[in-house]
Amino acid sequence: MKRLLMILAVSLLTLNTQADNHSGNIEQGRAKSAVCSACHGVDGNSINPEWPSLAGQHPKYLVQRLQAYKAGEVKTPLAALMNAQAMALSAQDMADLAAYFASQTVTPGAADAALVEAGSVLYRMGNEEREIASCAACHGPRGRGNPLSNVPAIAGQRSAYSVAQLKAFANGTRDGGLNGMMHDVSKSMSEDDMKAVASFMQGLH
Ligand code: HEC
Ligand code: HEC
Repeated sequence: MKRLLMILAVSLLTLNTQADNHSGNIEQGRAKSAVCSACHGVDGNSINPEWPSLAGQHPKYLVQRLQAYKAGEVKTPLAALMNAQAMALSAQDMADLAAYFASQTVTPGAADAALVEAGSVLYRMGNEEREIASCAACHGPRGRGNPLSNVPAIAGQRSAYSVAQLKAFANGTRDGGLNGMMHDVSKSMSEDDMKAVASFMQGLH
């Protein structure tokens, strides 16, 4: 019985990895990315401050986001632009596109000199009194994120996009991830906090 259970567990595990394991192909992804490049840039560096850069982002996170848009789960003001795009993608397309954008390099922007000090303090230390967790604790001191726990890289991200996402986490139009962690982080941030930390992240590299 024990042995049978073990075989069952092992085969379930294999099944599971096979189901999730659409391994992405960078060249296929490059070929499929033409339609995306109109907004996200040919090399994944966005051409509009409201649209996110995808270059260097963790592939699993990119796939998870595409699935959320495809399922219509994202209710942000600009989600409609992405829902239509994601609708047309198969699981293999998502894996290929994610592999391609992950292989590109993000070009950091500049932080606003007037905001960088406040942004840097909030990013590194958070604000205990107002229950804002340190961003660095999860996104890393250099903003690279953590692929194992599906925390996205935010270094070099377009600041207007980041502000919009922080607002969306706070008001629930975007799911805050595991246990709503980004909802908890953002709910007591002021608009000035969001702008300062987003500006700092845009210049982070
Ligand atoms: C018409 C412009 C447009 C096109 C074309 C487009 N996107 Fe987007 N994309 C956006 C916008 C705007 C957002 C942010 C939406 C929001 O605020 O929720 C976004 C968000 C994303 C995100 C989430 C990024 C993050 O950091 O969480 C991913 C992944 C993505 N797009 C991938 C793609 C892929 C792959 C394609 C091509 C198949 C594509 N996009 C085509 C405009 C576009
Ligand atoms: C407990 C861990 C944790 C902490 C602390 C945290 N984050 Fe996050 N953050 C996440 C996770 C996980 C996601 C992805 C959520 C999802 O699945 O959509 C995320 C997503 C984001 C995004 C969206 C990125 C994108 O590409 O769309 C931004 C912006 C962000 N965080 C900024 C911050 C800022 C600013 C702070 C500090 C004030 C912070 N985070 C603190 C875990 C954390």
